[in-house]
Amino acid sequence: MLLFAMVFQFTADLRQPTYPVFKMAENNGTNRMIIVVTPTYKRMTRIPDMLRMANTLSHVKDIHWIVVEDGNKTVPAVKDILERTRIPYTYIAHKTAVGYPRRGWYQRTMALKLIRSNTSQILGSDHEEGVVYFGDDDNSYDIRLFTDYIRNVKTLGIWAVGLVGGTVVEAPKVVDGKVTAFNVKWNPKRRFAVDMAGFAVNLKVVLNSDAVFGTSCKRGGGAPETCLLEDMGLEREDIEPFGHEKEKDREIFVWHTKTSTPNIVQAKKNATKPVPPPETFGYFVEV
Ligand code: UGA
Ligand code: MN
Repeated sequence: MLLFAMVFQFTADLRQPTYPVFKMAENNGTNRMIIVVTPTYKRMTRIPDMLRMANTLSHVKDIHWIVVEDGNKTVPAVKDILERTRIPYTYIAHKTAVGYPRRGWYQRTMALKLIRSNTSQILGSDHEEGVVYFGDDDNSYDIRLFTDYIRNVKTLGIWAVGLVGGTVVEAPKVVDGKVTAFNVKWNPKRRFAVDMAGFAVNLKVVLNSDAVFGTSCKRGGGAPETCLLEDMGLEREDIEPFGHEKEKDREIFVWHTKTSTPNIVQAKKNATKPVPPPETFGYFVEV
């Protein structure tokens, strides 16, 4: 009997781990759809980058992923990843137009146009509200960024980003619940001194403006974020800061990581023939 009780207790322990596990996140009583916009482009590390992002997003409910390929056509290996996440997605191709920097601006602009012209299809019948987040394919995302921050954005949410802007963390400076300045190294005078990863806007703000990522705006000193948010008619008073409540041990929910390009050993140069691409033994690698 004792043995039986011990075995039973043991299996109960197995069923209910005491260590922390990722929970399938609840939507906190709001039915806001999270619309994530991701520009992406062919490079050796793109498939692993997109795979990590897909694995993260598949833990989040009520989400629509808009992926915009910087190229003439979509890529089957990327589509396969999106299919396997089983989350609703839209995958379109828009090669960067002449005059735009090759940094995802044009792709995000195309996504904004899509969101404005296909709002009801993207929201689906279960959702009246949405939040738009620009999530690049190479960052590192905590699931709580989506469930605890983005989902709750009523106008403009801003939070800390790790490893960005030439420093270890950029964050809004919050006094009495209001953002009074930005704790950043680079260009702190901007109305919104925040990286793309550090904010989300409610869908109604997107729909009430025609702001896009243009090339003419000079206000950000080269950064597109403050231009977009200013063009959306937003002011610092509109900011809802997230993650600042604790005095210390504050957590960072998004990291501006970069995947380095691996050093591929090239075949020997031959004066008459061009260098052949690396051998992939029949496996798919974007070389
Ligand atoms: C930083 C910011 O984090 C970006 O959000 C911002 O757009 C960019 O600076 C900027 O300067 O405008 P960073 O990490 O330096 O981004 O740039 P990437 O991550 O290489 O590119 C941003 C996004 O655009 C990525 O999702 C990337 O896949 C995409 N991209 C980049 C393209 O679609 N095409 C390109 O040729 C390059
Ligand atoms: Mn990046």
